[in-house]
Amino acid sequence: MPVTLTDIKADVGSVAGHVTPHPKQIKAVKEVLMEGAKSKRISDFFTSRVGDDIHLIMLHKGGEGASEVHGLAWEALKAASEVAKDLGLYAAGQDLLKDAFSGNVKGMGPGIAEMEFEPRKAEPMIALMADKTGPSAFNLPLSKIYADPFTTSGLVIDPRLHEGFVIEVMDQKEGTVIPFDLPSELHYYLALIGDVTKYTIKRVRSKDKSLGTAAVVSTDKLSYIAGKYVGKDDPVAVLRAQSGFPAVGEILQPFMFPTLVGGWMRGSHVGPLFPCSSDGSNPTFFDGPPRVVGLGFMVKGDAIVGIEENPAVGEHKPVDYFAGEDFQYARQRAMEIAVYMRQHGPFMFERLPEEDMEYTTLKGVLEKVLKNKGITQGK
Ligand code: F6R
Ligand code: MG
Ligand code: MG
Repeated sequence: MPVTLTDIKADVGSVAGHVTPHPKQIKAVKEVLMEGAKSKRISDFFTSRVGDDIHLIMLHKGGEGASEVHGLAWEALKAASEVAKDLGLYAAGQDLLKDAFSGNVKGMGPGIAEMEFEPRKAEPMIALMADKTGPSAFNLPLSKIYADPFTTSGLVIDPRLHEGFVIEVMDQKEGTVIPFDLPSELHYYLALIGDVTKYTIKRVRSKDKSLGTAAVVSTDKLSYIAGKYVGKDDPVAVLRAQSGFPAVGEILQPFMFPTLVGGWMRGSHVGPLFPCSSDGSNPTFFDGPPRVVGLGFMVKGDAIVGIEENPAVGEHKPVDYFAGEDFQYARQRAMEIAVYMRQHGPFMFERLPEEDMEYTTLKGVLEKVLKNKGITQGK
């Protein structure tokens, strides 16, 4: 019986600055999701957060895009946004771009990563939740995981992975999705995916049809939906691990390298990806550096299993992979890189080129200066 794992996430207000949701917001989303579990709209769930983003991780049988599940998530995020308004939190309701729910949260502000699959006998899964960056932050790490035999040794030594994977690449502006058969199309794939301003990985599929989807990434760009800067597209990726997919350790290894990503401070700067625990994800240095949290859990039939003693719906405790000492090395390096990058101040390429900045007020600056000085452009 196939199940669907859906992670819907949004920033609906935070304390003090774009830093962390309030515990009352987490309580509010849990109450709504608990009602959803009671009424069987979802079978299990847990909530988490990275920086100012609340994540609703839900297991259900509704398939991808199920309106009852998306509607439930919308209700939960609305409730958290009401709490934010009551408490006077910062940017209350920021990512909820529409007033009324109309069947699917896609294009309404929240990010979504969801996949339907037939659970294996044991189904280890990982949610990679990032803050202060965009969906293409996962381009390099996922390319290493699914296409680099120097990272995923299973591609070389496990016959179940020998054939490689199909990676679907999305052109973020046009919406075109191109599947690449790897490794045979590796060079064409890298020629596109290396342009992180344009392309994003959308989905990874095993070539073994019985295994199906390996990974999904949230791809929505809020500014493309709203037509202007409205908030951050802090992304999430959901992956299946082991037995025919990359091992957990192969999935986590790329995060030891603090990849440079766009979207830091005002969605307009480049910084290193800093792997950390959910509790340690408050972005405090120049609203960053961009964070990534890795949570591990099992799916058993229609239940989620973490490291909680008495599994109760909604109360799961996932493994917080980057919490330990191992990734301290990456954090140290990331901070050194972050300080180095910040020394560029407002200069590119620490600051993103104008067309990739979320705060695109620079064009206005030029117009203002020219007008004040009575200069006609081009003269
Ligand atoms: C928000 C983010 C922050 C803000 C910055 C300015 O997730 O990335 O860096 O862009 O704090 O925020 P406003 O414009 O709300 O003052
Ligand atoms: Mg925010
Ligand atoms: Mg955020």
